[in-house]
Amino acid sequence: MAAVAAVLLLLSSLTITLSTTIYSGTISPNFTASHFLFIENSGDFLRSVNRNYTAAIKNPQPSSSSFYLVVYHSASHTVVWTANRNTPISSSGQFRLSATGISIHDDSEDSVWSTPEFSSTVASLQLLDSGNIILLDRFNTTLWQSFDFPTDTIVSGQRFLVGKSLIAYSSPSDYSDGEYTFMLTSTTGMLQWQGLTYYELSMDSRSIQNSAQFVSYLMVNGSGFNLIGESGSEIVTKVLMPPVVSDSDYRILKISNDGYLVVLRYTNNNWVTDFASPVDRCRSPSRCGKLGLCSSGGCSCPPGYHIDPKTNFGCSLSDNSLSLPESCNGDETRPPEDYVYVPIGKGLMYFSIYFTNPARNNVGLSTCEALCSSNCSCLGFYYGNRSESCYLIGNHLGSIILSSNKEEDDKLGFIKAISLSSSSNNQNGTTASDFPVIGLVLLPVSGVLLISIVAIWMCIRTQKNRKKNKMKPIPKKFVDDSYSDDTEKFLIAGLPVRFKHEDLVHATMNFSTPIGSGGFGKVYKGVLRDKTVVAVKKITALGSQGMKEFFTEIAIIGNIHHVNLVKLKGFCTHVRDRFLVYEYMSRGSLDRTLFGTGPALEWKDRFEIAVGTARGLAYLHSGCEQKIIHCDVKPENILLNDDLQVKISDFGLAKLLSPEQSGLFTTMRGTRGYLAPEWLTNEAISDKTDVYSYGMVLLELIQGRKNCGHAPILSFENPTPSTECPSSGSSGLLNPPRARSIYFPLQALEMHEEGRYLDLVDPRLSGRVTKHEAEKLVKVALCCLHENPSLRPTMANVVTMLEGTLPVVEPRLDLLGFLRFYGRRFTEPSMVATVTGVETPSGVMAPATESSSMSVFLDSVSYTLSQQVSGPR
Ligand SMILES: *[C@@H]1O[C@H](CO)[C@@H](O)[C@H](O)[C@H]1NC(C)=O
Ligand SMILES: *[C@@H]1O[C@H](CO)[C@@H](O)[C@H](O)[C@H]1NC(C)=O
Ligand SMILES: *[C@@H]1O[C@H](CO)[C@@H](O)[C@H](O)[C@H]1NC(C)=O
Ligand SMILES: *[C@@H]1O[C@H](CO)[C@@H](O)[C@H](O)[C@H]1NC(C)=O
Ligand SMILES: *[C@@H]1O[C@H](CO)[C@@H](O)[C@H](O)[C@H]1NC(C)=O
Ligand SMILES: *[C@@H]1O[C@H](CO)[C@@H](O)[C@H](O)[C@H]1NC(C)=O
Repeated sequence: MAAVAAVLLLLSSLTITLSTTIYSGTISPNFTASHFLFIENSGDFLRSVNRNYTAAIKNPQPSSSSFYLVVYHSASHTVVWTANRNTPISSSGQFRLSATGISIHDDSEDSVWSTPEFSSTVASLQLLDSGNIILLDRFNTTLWQSFDFPTDTIVSGQRFLVGKSLIAYSSPSDYSDGEYTFMLTSTTGMLQWQGLTYYELSMDSRSIQNSAQFVSYLMVNGSGFNLIGESGSEIVTKVLMPPVVSDSDYRILKISNDGYLVVLRYTNNNWVTDFASPVDRCRSPSRCGKLGLCSSGGCSCPPGYHIDPKTNFGCSLSDNSLSLPESCNGDETRPPEDYVYVPIGKGLMYFSIYFTNPARNNVGLSTCEALCSSNCSCLGFYYGNRSESCYLIGNHLGSIILSSNKEEDDKLGFIKAISLSSSSNNQNGTTASDFPVIGLVLLPVSGVLLISIVAIWMCIRTQKNRKKNKMKPIPKKFVDDSYSDDTEKFLIAGLPVRFKHEDLVHATMNFSTPIGSGGFGKVYKGVLRDKTVVAVKKITALGSQGMKEFFTEIAIIGNIHHVNLVKLKGFCTHVRDRFLVYEYMSRGSLDRTLFGTGPALEWKDRFEIAVGTARGLAYLHSGCEQKIIHCDVKPENILLNDDLQVKISDFGLAKLLSPEQSGLFTTMRGTRGYLAPEWLTNEAISDKTDVYSYGMVLLELIQGRKNCGHAPILSFENPTPSTECPSSGSSGLLNPPRARSIYFPLQALEMHEEGRYLDLVDPRLSGRVTKHEAEKLVKVALCCLHENPSLRPTMANVVTMLEGTLPVVEPRLDLLGFLRFYGRRFTEPSMVATVTGVETPSGVMAPATESSSMSVFLDSVSYTLSQQVSGPR
């Protein structure tokens, strides 16, 4: 009976409405469509006026029996919007447009999806050429638009409003809500998995902060995508991409079903990926399934785990007497002794550790373990040995990743397991505290190869450590005065080699060959007994902070490894003196090579130095576990080896000053010409302070001499050289004096405004630099000098701009006007004040920098004055 009815119904609809017409632009109530009714057109029933987009009732794949109301991009057949993503219908299920809105009905006539109720009746539905479906009343007022309810994609020109999310499809053949989300907050965009963040746009080196406003929406267009501020016009964050050239090129932003935020461009009938994040593919949290170990080589299981036989995706414990807890149903509690914690292994990390705060700080491993045992939704934890911090892993287990910085990461992960035979608990003894044993006990059945690789690796490590230990003096043997400071009290992990004072005296021939002096003291050349040449920095300007703080900082500095950072080989304490032993750099510091009397540095070398310095600083700011602000970026601290490779020195030393000192110190610190405005305005010092100084260094690389220049006219009238610029070699003599002495950053700004970039380049390189090359460096430098720190690029941004992976951003003139005040200082000789009656914190400043610091202080006073005189800008 029912079958006959169905056939009749089918026949009637066949005869009555089977349609070959596709509507154009607009449809009006009452309108009905189903895949079946429009089968001749594969379910398409409406096209936008210029046919850019098509609305259809479609299934994701020909074999699928799930049908959805979709809008797709006509040329590429890419679905950009889905109405009933979680409630698919069959091929005869219906889309209906009535006076009350859109509804979608399954075979039993029930509505499975509909637009909300409206106050007025719907007069028409339009599919626009932008891809937007709008419902209009009879006055053409928009009642509803699909752009306000994005699914997993936004198209060029669509406003993605703050607070909204894109939710990935479960799979390419299933449009239902998947596990990954892209959320837009008032400050940034972030990717989340099961509610846990694993990527933030603001931390991406390709995103450029342009304003401090709150975000109101995100929009994709021909030049990339932008987060637009509340004012509706100002760009807060921009991500630039290759410009769209052809009219038919088309760009979308979407979250892929495997958790990547991608921007795709359709060009020449092909999709090109312009942007994909996270860049490290392993940072998508479930790429290798539960507890799978993701690396560039693919997926594997950590030692002690094997591939989950049930799912063949992800890993489970190799020890059959243990099982992972079932999902937590809230009230389930077991006695803590039922749980055992299986280590994940050294150097293996979990994504959420990078984005969440520890559940507790300053606790022991056992406390952390107890915290996890008492919490049913805790599935494991990470414990930071050095920082004594405890991070809980909750709710879901994702993949394991390799630590990006093995040397620094001392966090160990443990997965909660339930012992199936509680009585054998003690025999198993699988508790967190005896980690080294576990790797042996839990020999996996499979993955033997992996184990042996790990074993070899550990073996190499131990050998290395042994070697190190050989060089390391064994403390108790040397009871000389350098050990009278009770350092043995402090057990600090990762402390570099400790040298004996007598060894350093011998190596430096009693400190007889000074090779430089910096903000903290003199530097001497030395040769160790094993013939290694080193630079020994004798620190005399230290605060009276405790030994423990000193050692902590040394341990941090000693554990930083990057090709563009000078390696700390060791240290020594002797009475009140501290010595730092660095690798020796044959070419000395950049100021000598750049401003010295030797042949001029070629442009290519200058560019490489600029990139190397940027990379080194970017690493300090975001590559290591603890952000390090250099605070004193200048050519004197940029060392070069024989191949002109950059090695930045003196990083991490700023922290050796005690807080009381740094208050005063910060106002006076740094070297003339490198000081960012925030030193003078009591604003917080941040990594962007280094960016400013870097911009100054970049300008000096361009012109081949000091920014503050030698002022020929001034010195003519005033035979005593001004203290403005620590006179560095013969820079003023090398270059023909310019007619008018001018503050170089200001000159750079003026020449930029006039597009005369080549006028800024070192005249010795004349003819060997193109305007394009010069323009790039000048623009990057000016962006670094923006007055508002948050609107300077990050060092990572700078690297990408220099390398060319990102287009160079236009400097903002409104943020550079302050240079005119700084600049005025150089054309008004009367402003050169005499150094009297300025109190200095005793013992803070090294003699070598005292005079320059003093003039900086005076400059700051005059800058403040000039600001007051001219009133608020
Ligand atoms: C649409 O259908 C409803 C009920 O089926 C009817 O009341 C209404 O008049 C129809 N509207 C038009 C424009 O045909
Ligand atoms: C609504 O828009 C359509 C097409 O754009 C137009 O023809 C019609 O006159 C408009 N109606 C009103 C009331 O403005
Ligand atoms: C993209 O949008 C931004 C911000 O609205 C704008 O400045 C830029 O010129 C646009 N680019 C193109 C190619 O339309
Ligand atoms: C529609 O597509 C054409 C060519 O493909 C393009 O020039 C036009 O800008 C598109 N219209 C909209 C509103 O996107
Ligand atoms: C943690 O640090 C302590 C000393 O601070 C050390 O004895 C212990 O071996 C370290 N544990 C691990 C697993 O590295
Ligand atoms: C239990 O652990 C989860 C996951 O880390 C955490 O979100 C939650 O706050 C914890 N609950 C308690 C009571 O500590």
